[in-house]
Amino acid sequence: MKIGVFDSGYGGLTILNAMRQQLPQYDYLYLGDNARAPYGTRSFDVIYAYTLQAVKWLLEQDCALVILACNTASAKALRTIQQRDLPQLRKENGNWHMANVLGVIRPTVEAIPALTKNGHIGILATPATVSSQSYVLELEKMTIVNCQLSITQQACPMWVPLIEAGEHLNSGADYFVAKYLDELFAADPLIDTIILGCTHYPLIAGKIRTYLETKNLKPETIYQGDIVARSLADYLLRHQEFAPVLSQNGTCCFATTEAPDKFQDNAALFLQTPIHAQHVAF
Ligand code: DGL
Repeated sequence: MKIGVFDSGYGGLTILNAMRQQLPQYDYLYLGDNARAPYGTRSFDVIYAYTLQAVKWLLEQDCALVILACNTASAKALRTIQQRDLPQLRKENGNWHMANVLGVIRPTVEAIPALTKNGHIGILATPATVSSQSYVLELEKMTIVNCQLSITQQACPMWVPLIEAGEHLNSGADYFVAKYLDELFAADPLIDTIILGCTHYPLIAGKIRTYLETKNLKPETIYQGDIVARSLADYLLRHQEFAPVLSQNGTCCFATTEAPDKFQDNAALFLQTPIHAQHVAF
């Protein structure tokens, strides 16, 4: 059986990449719901319904584990899927008796205490992730030694559309990079750690870094890829029942709800290697 990796679009490729580097032996199936991206400006009901469709599809394709490589889906749909849908799905289909779905928010938050020195955390995320308060709620459960936690969230509604449209490296994108970073640091100039709380954002990391440098700001910046990959490795160590179930041929397949040729071209740019994708219709 495979490890399914799901995102609304191309962002989850940043997580998949890190997983394949740290755990190259497993077989992966990536699904991007590019035809319906972005999710981050949609309502709870829609994000939940789309994410559940994707999870079911990945389970039907023989995935034993599904990683929601999307903060928005993790924030809005993961808990309901884990608590309400998975028990039912496991009952309905014997092949899914050990299926599980994991998200990206909890592992990201766990990395914070080791990084911040003053407890001032900035979260850059989609409007849906921000409104869910998921990061704030998870961070408030953390103990950060010797400092009071101060969390500032900044919604960045234009970043995912720019990336999905392939416009993120053009100069027009600079305006929105500056706008959201200015708003974040105006709200709290003491921020020493920022979370890129959307898996698309590493694709504009160069622009974010450059802008922060021009402002002489040097926060620790948290990229989720390595963190989530490490957390998956740790999960697999703790859940040895997956060892005989997950196949280990080192393959990776791709599926998209958009036109496969479009996905192939863009994904190949992000991954720096040609890929083949199949089309999925929901
Ligand atoms: N990569 C998704 C995330 O991490 C983007 C969500 C969207 O489609 O807006 O939130």
